[in-house]
Amino acid sequence: MGVLFRGILALLPDMTIRETDVCVEGNRIAAVGEVPAGFHADTVVEGKDRLLLPGLVNAHTHTYMTMFRGCADDLPFAEWLNGHIDPLEAQMTAEDCYWSTLLGNMEMILNGTTASIDMFIYTETASRAAEECGFRTVLTRGLTGPEGGERRLNEFFGEYEAWKGRCSRVTFALGPHAPYSCSEEYLRQVADLAREKDLGLHIHISESKFEQNLIRQQYGCTPAELLDKCGILGPKTLAAHGVYLDEADIALLAERGVSVVTNPVSNLKLGNGIAPVPKLLEAGVNVALGTDGAASNNALNLFRELSFVTLLHKGVTGDTTAVPAAEALKMATVNGAKALGLAGCGEIKAGAVADLTVLDIDKPWLRPRCDLLSSLVYCARGDEVTDVMVDGRFLLRKGELTTIDRERVLFEVDKTCKRLGLL
Ligand code: NI
Repeated sequence: MGVLFRGILALLPDMTIRETDVCVEGNRIAAVGEVPAGFHADTVVEGKDRLLLPGLVNAHTHTYMTMFRGCADDLPFAEWLNGHIDPLEAQMTAEDCYWSTLLGNMEMILNGTTASIDMFIYTETASRAAEECGFRTVLTRGLTGPEGGERRLNEFFGEYEAWKGRCSRVTFALGPHAPYSCSEEYLRQVADLAREKDLGLHIHISESKFEQNLIRQQYGCTPAELLDKCGILGPKTLAAHGVYLDEADIALLAERGVSVVTNPVSNLKLGNGIAPVPKLLEAGVNVALGTDGAASNNALNLFRELSFVTLLHKGVTGDTTAVPAAEALKMATVNGAKALGLAGCGEIKAGAVADLTVLDIDKPWLRPRCDLLSSLVYCARGDEVTDVMVDGRFLLRKGELTTIDRERVLFEVDKTCKRLGLL
């Protein structure tokens, strides 16, 4: 099946926006620029007032928690976690997770996201949801231990083996939860398994002052130093948050080739602070962008994160050149794809995987078009998205979801929320 995006403004790998033709054949971008002789388009997307972007990549989230949106906001952190989120999670069934994941996937698709890395409790429902709705996802089972650590590893590897070769859009990484929820020995075990199986690692790191102090007390070092001692840090590691990284930590992460995903809204909402993103960028660290879960954001909308990540760092550093718009867009696209290990994703170029997002830019807040890239970061809201393609298949076409039964998902989520006493 061929799709032609005809005469469309497109964000190209050099971070310029130019009018071009983009041909998609199967799950790949066949050409950018001239339409190849003999190319047949079954579908033509006319480019007038449209902008084509690489699909956005959400580099840290917990989609199964989407049904906890707004259920316990503005509370002290311990009360939020221990009094609400943890007890709710304990009551969730695999089926609840499935519908909650579909709600999250639906939200991400509607605002132009094509891939995410997700830390789950019921991996099997997340993989099923992603396979069915056509979304691209890297799944991790949140691993904590030693207590229950072996069981969680077995659950993860059971699912990993079951999905081998089944769906190229559903891939796996090991997800040791955080330095404070895993013992040193457990972290070493997970790091060894990652090397043995050639799997990526996804972990929360230096998210809060509490964590920083606890690790200092227990081990006499920073969370990054502890993880390095345990063999967790490497080029296939994606570290989430990194709010309290010091200069030595940043140098260490850069040296090990670790990617860091910043989650500006979640860090603000949980009162954790602001990550040193300009310093990470300066050190050459691959920085990606994420939302975190809906219980701590509360939206799964990368357009919101794009404006936050640019504005915040200008505000706290006093440097108006900090995290420019093009840098933020790289975080949400090509850097995210690299962080997730998604080869061929994140850029609009011949041969790349056809994960694409189309925006209707005929909006007053996107005019005049003197600098569309800048307007995209500072003004776009996500609801301009009209079409979303993952692996060459439209999941959203002319504003309509093609793979998700919107009403059914909303019904099932409400039903579960009533059972859990949230509605
Ligand atoms: Ni998280």
